[in-house]
Amino acid sequence: MSQTRHAALAADPRIAQARALVQEAVAAHQAEVNAVRGPDPALAADYDAQVAAIGQARGRDLFFPYLGSGLGNGPYVELGDGSVKLDFISGIGAHGWGHSHPALVDAAFDAALQDTVMQGNLQQNAVSLDVSRLLIDGANRTSGEGRFSHCFLTTTGAMANENAYKILLQHKTPASRVLAFTGNFSGRTLGMCWVTDKAANRVGLPQTLATDFVPFFNPDKPEASTQHALAVLDRHLYRYPGQHALMSFELVLGEGGYYAGSAAFYRALMTRCREAGIAVHVDEVQTFGRTTELFAFQHFGLDDLIDTVSVGKITQVCATLFTAAVNPKPGLLSQTFTGATAALHAARTILEGLRDGGFYGPEGRNVQLHKRFVAGLKGIGDRHPGWVDGPFGVGAMVGFTPFGGDATKNGALLKQMYADGLLGFTAGKNPARMRFLMPVGAVTFDHIDEAVRLLEGSMAKVAAG
Ligand SMILES: Cc1ncc(COP(=O)(O)O)c(C=O)c1O
Repeated sequence: MSQTRHAALAADPRIAQARALVQEAVAAHQAEVNAVRGPDPALAADYDAQVAAIGQARGRDLFFPYLGSGLGNGPYVELGDGSVKLDFISGIGAHGWGHSHPALVDAAFDAALQDTVMQGNLQQNAVSLDVSRLLIDGANRTSGEGRFSHCFLTTTGAMANENAYKILLQHKTPASRVLAFTGNFSGRTLGMCWVTDKAANRVGLPQTLATDFVPFFNPDKPEASTQHALAVLDRHLYRYPGQHALMSFELVLGEGGYYAGSAAFYRALMTRCREAGIAVHVDEVQTFGRTTELFAFQHFGLDDLIDTVSVGKITQVCATLFTAAVNPKPGLLSQTFTGATAALHAARTILEGLRDGGFYGPEGRNVQLHKRFVAGLKGIGDRHPGWVDGPFGVGAMVGFTPFGGDATKNGALLKQMYADGLLGFTAGKNPARMRFLMPVGAVTFDHIDEAVRLLEGSMAKVAAG
């Protein structure tokens, strides 16, 4: 049987040997990255100089003084000063398989055997097809209709959103306005910063997209908040008749504070949009892979109402999925890069893992992880009244409001957690929240219990002033 020279290379026994050696060496060394610990004093001075130098190079200090050593073990990550942290923020969702996962070491090894470091739209290898198929099949799994025919790969979440907006704006031309929720985050490009509901992110920038904001769901007043959102939407449509091309739905507000709407709320708004000829875009850059279904739109049962959906972060490469009806004219979408070869190989591994790993359904892994973490956070709240409001979020997106939502205390807690070896991040304001994006492919109940213990210790220090 004929085969390519590359297939022969991949099957060469020396490759199998080398792979086994690499895996063995990584496993031996990562076994020592198995508990939170402080810096090695002998490494600290050099490390501090590096952290200062990168701050200088980028023109602004790092948010955390974090420079990874390059080795980790599940949610544990070693930094360049020899310290080990428990990573419950995963690069804000990107490191969903944790650190130095053997399956991703394998994926990177496979990528090293490919001919180029980057893949592009003009020249790409078959792994791009595998990733696109996994995303399309995943998106079509629940509806059975084959609604999503197409998948366009790209490098960032913001670019996946840009591509969706371009598709839908072209489809609905000359309509040029867009709609989004109050508290929405869509990314930081010149376009997306106008849909992101945060003025600081666009100071001094020219307006590129006219966005009208719709108030979000209030779980304490489900019916009234739905009616209010519909009324505000109607007002925008009345004020700018025929001028809205799309509404972007972030189904669990991420940067906005881990607020989730309800299926009925989303269905009502999406239906109203569709009736008004407005396309529906779902931004799953943060939610993908983390709810009770692969896509959050499946979690909320909205399959039949969507035109485009963007994914990112845990997927390693980002993508826009879209229906045949909105497939754009030639020339609208392209880019030099679709992604790094290693990122595409890792994407394939992670998407297969999410598909086959028992993550979904009412008793799936994401729900189990959620329940364990939420029980731990509630335990802190029971032991210390006033420390924990919530928890909030869906599946493997978990957040809570520390100390009544005081932003100063929340910031102090984040820094204390970092010093104590636990990585999380803030979300929202008024109230200010703490959020966690567990590495779903690598985390165990023991890790969650350890995170809760560390958190309680950090909170005690902040509470003591
Ligand atoms: C919901 C959402 N959309 C878009 C983005 C932008 O993604 P990226 O930072 O990869 O451009 C983010 C990133 O945090 C996000 O959370």
